[in-house]
Amino acid sequence: MITTYNSLGFVNTRAMFQVALKNSFAVPAYNFNNMEQLQAIVMACLETQSPVILQVSKGAREYADRTLLRYMAQGAVEMMKRIAREKNLGEIPIALHLDHGDSFELCKSCVESGFSSVMIDGSHLPYDENVALTKRVVDYAHQYDVTVEGELGILAGVEEDVKAENHSFTRPEEVADFLRQTGVDSLAIAIGTSHGAYKFKPGQKPMIRLDILHEIEKRIPGFPIVLHGSSSVPQAAVEIINKYGGKLNGSIGIPEDQLREAARSAVCKINIDSDGRLVMTAKIREVFASKPEEFDPRKYLGPAREALKQMYISKNKNVLGSAGQAPAILAVIK
Ligand code: G3H
Ligand code: 13P
Ligand code: ZN
Repeated sequence: MITTYNSLGFVNTRAMFQVALKNSFAVPAYNFNNMEQLQAIVMACLETQSPVILQVSKGAREYADRTLLRYMAQGAVEMMKRIAREKNLGEIPIALHLDHGDSFELCKSCVESGFSSVMIDGSHLPYDENVALTKRVVDYAHQYDVTVEGELGILAGVEEDVKAENHSFTRPEEVADFLRQTGVDSLAIAIGTSHGAYKFKPGQKPMIRLDILHEIEKRIPGFPIVLHGSSSVPQAAVEIINKYGGKLNGSIGIPEDQLREAARSAVCKINIDSDGRLVMTAKIREVFASKPEEFDPRKYLGPAREALKQMYISKNKNVLGSAGQAPAILAVIK
């Protein structure tokens, strides 16, 4: 039996991206694997009145159990509605999205269990195979009004099981043909961002290729673009981790001002996972070091959740520009 995403209270990404393009911001796509991350994301977005895309990777689905994770996301929508009522806040639109789907079967399974959006990542395949796989997912997902993200170009670092030593930037001359042949709703591009906490080599100037982004925008005007690998790797968190026994050497992220500039353009979705991992780890290490007598998980996961929430609030307000944009999206949906 198929569970439709709207019966769970999610929205797909169509109206989100339409408004993001018009109002020059990017919708946050934050990954979660557990309850504290999910609570922090939803509370930060509710308090800032930001739309949000809850991202679930294949690994997250395996870690937390696919059934539990889906109900957790559904529960997050119900929690958001209740707290909105209690605090007299507006509700916010929430999408549930599969991050880096690597097969038709995985995408289908997510569509059938209530995801409102899926990514099919065929970026490591030869062009024609990427087109064929992406089109197959689009044709299936669109029957249920689930939106689909495709990818062209390869990010350096680790993309799930795909290891790319070097970037293979998206070729602007391919994008229009890819959209025409596949019918995707949004396109992830490679312009120098990468996954994880080591995005540039020490000594290298952290720079993304905004020139390639602008060239792509010219070829597909008004089409929603997605940036993966967009953590900024906050050095304050890295320092706390290292101070309390961690070992992160030479970790560098994407400067926030470059992301802000991208968010003002046709980039409508910005993916952030590693920053949350860093902030959470820093706070837990700090509590372990400063309060060695504590052994109640709530006493270290609670402060970590609060630190995460503050980080997401700051991203929404200062980087993505998504704060305050929830009502405009709900107005389009209704
Ligand atoms: O792009 C990858 C995301 O950060 C998810 O990572 O596969 O370790 O859950 P994961
Ligand atoms: P980061 O590792 O930079 O947070 O990227 C996350 C991402 O792209 C998820 O798809
Ligand atoms: Zn990614």
